[in-house]
Amino acid sequence: MRSRLKDIVPDAELRYKSVIADEILRLKEERNAVILAHNYMEPALYYSVPDYRGDSLELSRKAAAAEQGVIVFCGVRFMAETAKILSPEKTVLLPARKAGCSLAASITAEDVRNLKAKYPGVPVVTYVNTYAEVKAETDICCTSSNAAAVVESLGTDTVIFLPDEYLARNTAKETGKHIIFPSKLPPAQFDSDLDYQIIGWHGKCEVHERFTVEDIENARSQFPDVLVLAHPECPPDVVEASDFSGSTTAIVNYVRKHPAGRYLLLTECSMGDNIAAENPEKEMVRICSVRCPHMNEITLEETRDALLNNQYVIEVPEDIRKKAYKAVKRMIDISAKD
Ligand code: 13P
Ligand code: SF4
Repeated sequence: MRSRLKDIVPDAELRYKSVIADEILRLKEERNAVILAHNYMEPALYYSVPDYRGDSLELSRKAAAAEQGVIVFCGVRFMAETAKILSPEKTVLLPARKAGCSLAASITAEDVRNLKAKYPGVPVVTYVNTYAEVKAETDICCTSSNAAAVVESLGTDTVIFLPDEYLARNTAKETGKHIIFPSKLPPAQFDSDLDYQIIGWHGKCEVHERFTVEDIENARSQFPDVLVLAHPECPPDVVEASDFSGSTTAIVNYVRKHPAGRYLLLTECSMGDNIAAENPEKEMVRICSVRCPHMNEITLEETRDALLNNQYVIEVPEDIRKKAYKAVKRMIDISAKD
């Protein structure tokens, strides 16, 4: 931990955190647990206890393949729920009581049922950033790393894509499709003269919606050589003005493999620290005030307490889980062919 983080985390904090990390490693062994950590975890957690780190898709795969009896999910609730959907016989622990997500909170199962009634027969794609009840109403899930592939795999003229408006717009652009929003267009017009349509929703990520083209222009005016990397939950004009857009792991890999020296990361702040720690010779020009308050709830302390007190156990009612499983598994099977 110290060799990676000596320039990122103060020494006194590192010493305190390393004691907790040791305790977690002991408890992990005792409880036969596997720890999965999203790329947005704080550096001291990210570089100490996880067995696997990654984006939503990679962690779903690891959850499905886990052999241990306990999965500790260092991420937000919808991710831990996805692990439970895939591994119902395991105990899945989320180290914080809430750890929500503005996208997951933006849509209900009833909203999806209403859309299906309005557009009968149109397949429904939902971003994994949704709760199990919503996934259960869905034909297939997607993540930021496979959204275009999932949409194209359906082979239909129209798809319903929920709930992230910006990911839907960015995916429409990537696939060359048109996008409409149900509230703005009466159903009679929905299959008019457009050759392919994505029917969207108005959910937004409270972190990524804050980035602007002006942020990029300011950075480029100060650092003309900067490479701008944006998560596809950012507004389409921001993605358009960037040099690269991809999932959190795609961003990690881009910096890892690219020789350039300076990057502006338009995504959650801790991930910038984690990338900076791995690439000390490269400079991260970040807008550091943007931290996901939900991801931020998960720390080393909470992870230790999760294992100590068996909290917070994720449950998904079996009827909902079975339906949601089909949508998540279908996505994993499609992505496995990549
Ligand atoms: P990734 O699947 O790219 O890790 O994104 C998850 C997320 O919540 C980003 O805000
Ligand atoms: Fe949800 Fe945005 Fe936080 Fe990701 S960064 S968990 S999309 S609120």
